Amino acid sequence: MTKYGSFPGTRPRRLRTTPAMRRMVAETRLHPADLILPAFVREGIGAPVEIGAMPGVVQHTRDTLKKAAVEALEAGVSGIMLFGVPEESKKDAVGTAGTDPDGILQLAIRDVRAEVGDELIVMSDLCLDETTDHGHCGVLDAEGRVDNDATLERYAEMAQVQADAGAHVVGPSGMMDGQIGVIRDALDQVGHEDVSILAYTVKYSSAFFGPFREAVGSSLKGDRKTYQQDPANARESMRELALDLEEGADMVMVKPAGPYLDILAKVADAVDVPVAAYQISGEYAMIEAAAERGWIDRDKAIMESLTGIKRAGANMILTYWATEVARQL
Ligand code: PBG
Repeated sequence: MTKYGSFPGTRPRRLRTTPAMRRMVAETRLHPADLILPAFVREGIGAPVEIGAMPGVVQHTRDTLKKAAVEALEAGVSGIMLFGVPEESKKDAVGTAGTDPDGILQLAIRDVRAEVGDELIVMSDLCLDETTDHGHCGVLDAEGRVDNDATLERYAEMAQVQADAGAHVVGPSGMMDGQIGVIRDALDQVGHEDVSILAYTVKYSSAFFGPFREAVGSSLKGDRKTYQQDPANARESMRELALDLEEGADMVMVKPAGPYLDILAKVADAVDVPVAAYQISGEYAMIEAAAERGWIDRDKAIMESLTGIKRAGANMILTYWATEVARQL
């Protein structure tokens, strides 16, 4: 055996010796342009309302939302994903507020577009859960089950009003079968060929969505297990992916991010379209809560969580820390 030096001859630690060395050999770098800010806008409030389970995140007024969009843009964030929270009295069984051109989400899309033009990508959540009085992502049939095909008709109309309001990208998050195809057709039929679809392709029925329910004042009782995926399953994610691509998804998303990095890596390997990952409300809340107790270093934990998501294969990351992190980068 040839001896090249003292044992061990191979020392991976050499490349970890200094910050400059570590910086040079880093394989994954976060960039502000990777980031997309999810934001909530609530109808009928005079000042922003704090979300208890998401310290630092608020339900915006129309005015403060515009400011948040401009701040995100100035920090270098690529896009903003908008969620509308209508007044309780405007919720109904079919989510009428979601297709009302003057519904809160549509107003917010218009406001933000007027403020940022084409500089910041304006995205809108395309789902019924924020506007239905039962809180499900679709309309219900006579037995109270989520009716897939009746829901698709609502989504088609939502896509059109959101695009009319100025959304660059719609983000269907309801996990109905066929939603991407129906939305693509609906957009094309009314001349919105340029509006893209960021498909929530892989979306698991997750306990980590908990804080989001407060964020959108959700009326949901029960769960979404008949339409969102079972956390036990990986294979069906590839099936969802194939369907969404075939139906015309421009970009695909995996959600939640942290607990599903294996799925994210598989999806990223399999596709030739941009891949997004959504670091969701519960992922945010866990880090904030542990940091508040002094149990972890908040800023380092945030960066590590985002680096992990990017390393797994995400091109874009939706995160409630988008503006803050973009400023630090
Ligand atoms: C559905 C939707 C949800 C989230 C984004 N879009 C909630 C759900 O599916 O229950 C969750 C986002 C988060 O938890 O941060 N419109």
